[in-house]
Parts: sequence; structure tokens; C-alpha cells
Amino acid sequence: MDSIDTIILPAARRTGGMPVMEALAARRSSRDFDTSRSLDLQTLGDLLWAAWGINRTKGRTAPSSHNRQEIELYIFLATGVYRYDATAHVLVRLFKDDMRAATGTQPFVGSAPVEIALISDTSKIIGKTPQGVTEATYADTGFICENIYLFCASENLATVARALVPKEELAARLRLRDSQIITLVQTVGYPAQNR
Ligand SMILES: Cc1cc2nc3c(=O)[nH]c(=O)nc-3n(C[C@H](O)[C@H](O)[C@H](O)COP(=O)(O)O)c2cc1C
Repeated sequence: MDSIDTIILPAARRTGGMPVMEALAARRSSRDFDTSRSLDLQTLGDLLWAAWGINRTKGRTAPSSHNRQEIELYIFLATGVYRYDATAHVLVRLFKDDMRAATGTQPFVGSAPVEIALISDTSKIIGKTPQGVTEATYADTGFICENIYLFCASENLATVARALVPKEELAARLRLRDSQIITLVQTVGYPAQNR
């Protein structure tokens, strides 16, 4: 992948993959990654589209409470940290540093090619109590995570959703606004060969 500031992702392949019942049968968390293998752009783009892409006019592959679409995906690669712009289906680089290891405390974190931070812009959720905002944002996060799990099962990728994230430190490094909450981070890569 080039060190460029915007990565134009190939149009997502909206067909094929594993039948959904087989993907559900294969879904699991894995923490053993092939550290030498990264995702090609087509696979990365398909992954992000499956997670939280646009699948119809203004609609997404995952539901969101009141259709607020408040979750943003920050993508951590060796070449930097990017925001997934689902409408343009591109990655916009925010930082040039490799911050993958800063997304967690477990030993495997940083060894996989991709970390996806789910970050809720809670300012987009209006008319709810603080508890309602929390409930909506974590429910909406869960749908996206399951989409990632099912895509990974279908593509024989390894993945794990993680709440063990140093959220305050990471938010500071990402220079998040107070309204932005890191909900989960999901690690994605190819499975270790010796599994
Ligand atoms: C909200 C949530 C937080 C999680 N946080 C972590 C985590 O920080 N680290 C980790 O290794 N696994 C984490 N997991 C993965 C769970 O440990 C895993 O889903 C569970 O053990 C069941 O295993 P399975 O996904 O293979 O069915 C998390 C899962 C969820 C749903």
C-alpha cells in the first residue's frame, strides 16, 4: 500500500462469499495472527463495506438507532491511522504513525495488519437521556462488530472484538472530541499458520 493520504478502495464485491448459515457456523474469536500477511485493498474494502458500508441510498449494512449512523470507523494500518469514509468508500489518513499497538494491552495487539476502532460521535444522537445515548451507541457498535465477524468467517480471516483498550490514552493520541467515545476495537488479519 502506498503512503498516500487518501486510499481509494475498490468497489466492494457485493456477491459471493459463504452462505450466511455457514458463516455463522464458522464465526469465532481468534487471537493468533499471521504477522507477515496484510490484507489486499479489495479485501480491506470489502471488509469495511461489510462492516458499515453504504448498501442503498443513505442506508448501511448495519442498523443504527433512529438511523443516526453515529459510529465512525478508524482504521489502524502499518502506514497510519485512517477514517473510513463510507459514502466515498475511501480511507482518509489522519496520522502517519503506526499506532496499531496503542489500541490494546494484550500481547497480540499490534501483530495483526488491521485494527478497527469503533468510535461513536455521540453528538449525532439527539433527544435521548445519557443512558439512552450509551445504550444506542453500544447496540449500534454490536451490529457492526458482528458484521466484521461474519465477513471474517466467510473470508477465512481471524478476528476478535476487544473492550480491553486504553481508551483515554488512545482518545488523546487520536485527538478525539469529548463527544467521541471509543466503544470497541476489532483486530483483523490472516490466521497464524501454526493454528
Ligand atoms: C463486548 C466484548 C468485548 C470483548 N473484549 C475482548 C477483549 O478485550 N479481549 C479479547 O481477547 N476478547 C474480547 N472479546 C471476545 C470474547 O472474549 C469472545 O467473544 C468470547 O470469549 C466468546 O468467544 P467466541 O467469540 O469465539 O465465541 C470481547 C467480546 C465482546 C462481545
